[in-house]
Amino acid sequence: RNRLDNVKDINDVLRLLKTSKKILVITGAGISTSLGIPDFRSSQGFYNQLQHLGLSDPQEVFDLELFHTDPSLFYSIAYMILPPEKIYSPLHGFIKVLQSKGKLLRNYTQNIDNLESYAGISSSKLIQCHGSFATATCVTCNYQVKGETIFEQIRNKDIAYCPKCTKTRNQLLRDDEDVYISESFGVFKPDITFFGEPLPRAFHDSINQDLADCDLLISIGTSLKVAPVADIVDKVPPQVPQILINKDPINHCNFDVSLLGYCDDVASYLSNELGPTWDIDHEKYNKI
Ligand code: OAD
Repeated sequence: RNRLDNVKDINDVLRLLKTSKKILVITGAGISTSLGIPDFRSSQGFYNQLQHLGLSDPQEVFDLELFHTDPSLFYSIAYMILPPEKIYSPLHGFIKVLQSKGKLLRNYTQNIDNLESYAGISSSKLIQCHGSFATATCVTCNYQVKGETIFEQIRNKDIAYCPKCTKTRNQLLRDDEDVYISESFGVFKPDITFFGEPLPRAFHDSINQDLADCDLLISIGTSLKVAPVADIVDKVPPQVPQILINKDPINHCNFDVSLLGYCDDVASYLSNELGPTWDIDHEKYNKI
């Protein structure tokens, strides 16, 4: 993709924010780091905090096959990514402003912290591409429960079991104490998307139309390393301007303008420049 001649600097970004009507926003872990939630791949990120596990690749903690073989690995670290509630960052607030102005086509978030909802992004505008902790499903019988139901087990690093399957398991053991029952029999898995698992249906249902409809793409706080979300950038029509807001440069994509820095600072700067109707709601920021 060639960069656009008329989109070169921050003034062009300000102009585009004023004129665009269908903005596709891609977000990642970097929009929640100011709230104390680590991202994945930075030096202080989640994957580096897993070194003690001695995995050949820390992403294995989200490997579906491994979860089925040994769910205790995931349950030993899941507490570290259990999301806080009732807080959101200025950047979340900025996306809400885009929504209030009727400019947000869709926010494709890779985050599982569900803080967009708390910031007021409506569910029709939000695609949680990697699922969330809001629900959990039994891997054996598909019984689905609210995520909170298993938060205590997660905090205690205990495996959460489905009550229905626990009955079945006990019955099976009563009938034959030598019966083989797999490690993951009746285990709840939070409905976050693991590697080896398809993305939620909502993603596939809306992405193609949104790619055709969007008039501006903004990617914020993501290293764009995980497909298929990372591929969105390559798939938007070539005439659609692409803006990056990120702490670190992203060299494998060809953004028209890269606004490098902490995304909260960039969002505050943009909102100040754009005037009072772009004020970011700080009221609930940090209210825990
Ligand atoms: P990464 O950790 O890969 O990337 C986060 C990006 O945000 C990095 O480029 C940082 O430079 C940037 N960043 C961090 N703090 C920032 C800040 N305050 N302001 C601006 N930028 C900041 O996280 P993701 O791209 O979200 O998947 O990772 C994508 C997926 O990989 C995740 O959804 C997760 C992971 O494996 C699953 O859990 C399935």
